[in-house]
Amino acid sequence: MADALKVGIAGLGTVGASLVRIIQSRANELAVTCGRAIEITAVSARDKSRDRGIDLAGVTWFDAPEKLAAEADIDVFVELMGGASGPADLSVRAALARGLHVVTANKALLARCGVELAAIAEEKGALLNFEAAVAGGIPVIKALRESLTGNTISRVYGIMNGTCNYILTRMEKEGLSFKACLEDAQRLGYAEADPTFDIEGNDTAHKLAILTTLAFGTQIAADEIYLEGISNISIEDIHAAADLGYRIKLLGVAQKTEGGIEQRVHPTMVPHDSVIAQVDGVTNAVAIESDILGELLMVGPGAGGSATASAVLGDIADIAKSRPGAQRVPVLGTPAAALAPYKRARMRSHEGGYFIRLTVADRTGVFASIAARMAENAISLESIVQRARPDAGTSEFKTIILVTHATTEDSVRKAVAAIKAESYLIGEPQVIRIERPKAF
Ligand code: NAP
Ligand code: HSE
Repeated sequence: MADALKVGIAGLGTVGASLVRIIQSRANELAVTCGRAIEITAVSARDKSRDRGIDLAGVTWFDAPEKLAAEADIDVFVELMGGASGPADLSVRAALARGLHVVTANKALLARCGVELAAIAEEKGALLNFEAAVAGGIPVIKALRESLTGNTISRVYGIMNGTCNYILTRMEKEGLSFKACLEDAQRLGYAEADPTFDIEGNDTAHKLAILTTLAFGTQIAADEIYLEGISNISIEDIHAAADLGYRIKLLGVAQKTEGGIEQRVHPTMVPHDSVIAQVDGVTNAVAIESDILGELLMVGPGAGGSATASAVLGDIADIAKSRPGAQRVPVLGTPAAALAPYKRARMRSHEGGYFIRLTVADRTGVFASIAARMAENAISLESIVQRARPDAGTSEFKTIILVTHATTEDSVRKAVAAIKAESYLIGEPQVIRIERPKAF
């Protein structure tokens, strides 16, 4: 049997500790599958004294992850600390500079400087694997990077944040508050260290930026993503969506259009009978539409220690099985030097259906005025419903819910701006985009 693959792990939190447990408990099976043992020889975390429920006897401890990456006797550096810069960035660079293989679950880092890191890895002949960075345990990176080679992809979209999907599901099914659901997601190890990254959509945007590059062969453009999180979604929206035959999901969508590539992250209404609408809790789903294969939908655990460690372990096993000096699959599917510039499609050109919820004064002519503002902007309505507000008793206020046929973002923004100028509108209108899966 070949020499053991020596692994150094920086970060022993939710994911890192799970990974250590799995590698140690399945040592024999892994050695058989990979043709060599996988041995953890060095680790780093902030607090050496913390009981993590793992056995680190015989493993060299480093206080500084950069030192581990630069000096430890290892073949693979596994970065599981998180953060778009700082120790994660410095240690990954230090490992690549030595020509070490790197595995990371850090989408924030890759979204910021993934192309640069890919170029360094490719120059050094090292592998930079990051399956766990997008959609937890779902092997979507491998699917895009390898299995769909030759396909022309038109759209990639999905539920890519377990925390948000967990919150939306429990709010809908159990009537719990947003805050209570978020606290549970944190306790279960799903949320980011700063959970605003989850609920404001940044985490989904980081993942989407990576998928866009893999799908379309363009530079990573995380800053070009249209972004809305779920903190503005109320239980009233969730119930209204259900009444109309939809469920609300936080989707990331990357789509080729005539004007460029559209990248957007926002709460989205999906038809209740679509498969993606049935994806609940921490589960993620990624759909890929392409010309040769058609539509592929991958569903699976999207966050948490075991799901994420499973993907990290798969990346380490790929390295254990790889041959030194062998031709490497480009880190981002296309060699870093050959990635095309990213051309952003204007969000205002986005076409689709819209849900618009308005709270209005209960006065004669309001309905007609709203319909007129829609018509002036060439928006055709699929449905318009008026109902008493649940919080307003007999009420001088009413809720009006509009669902449009396909129209443009520009038209909707103009119509909503015109309605906002009317004296009958109370508070901010709620606008939620509708997305229609093709096959599923
Ligand atoms: P976590 O539980 O917060 O663990 C972070 C670990 O990094 C801790 O062990 C911490 O040390 C260590 N660390 C932080 N700063 C450090 C520093 N300066 N020097 C040394 N060690 C440091 O985070 P996690 O949930 O495991 O996530 C790790 C990475 O995986 C992140 O990039 C995250 O986005 C990604 N990810 C997480 C999930 C998930 O479901 N949790 C899923 C996919 C991807 P101490 O323990 O001593 O504080
Ligand atoms: N915080 C992330 C989520 C972890 O909830 O999806 C997985 O990337």
